[in-house]
Amino acid sequence: MKTENGFEKICHISDLKEKTGKRFFVNDTDIAVFKVDGEIFAVGNICPHQKTPLMFEGIIENCNVICPVHGWEFNLKDGTKPSGSKGLDTYKVNLINDFVYVKVLSKKLNW
Ligand code: FES
Repeated sequence: MKTENGFEKICHISDLKEKTGKRFFVNDTDIAVFKVDGEIFAVGNICPHQKTPLMFEGIIENCNVICPVHGWEFNLKDGTKPSGSKGLDTYKVNLINDFVYVKVLSKKLNW
């Protein structure tokens, strides 16, 4: 279900366990959603290292997610790597009546 401002409802807040990721597809985009200290973050699920779609199984340390495959680390707030360079895409999250909404713009197809 979409709201007027482009946010899509993905789940109830109780569907998310603290520090355990969950995978969703929104507008054909693979995303990983995490709840950390009650705050919700949505990032791309595909690790930029080897394009493995397992970020949702990543380990949470402070406000970072660590890829379970080779340990690359990304900040959940802005997706950056510890070096500050770009890593994962991040998506806006909204909580309305305990339901989680994310905004994922449709990707342009590059044929
Ligand atoms: S695939 Fe994520 S660190 Fe290698």
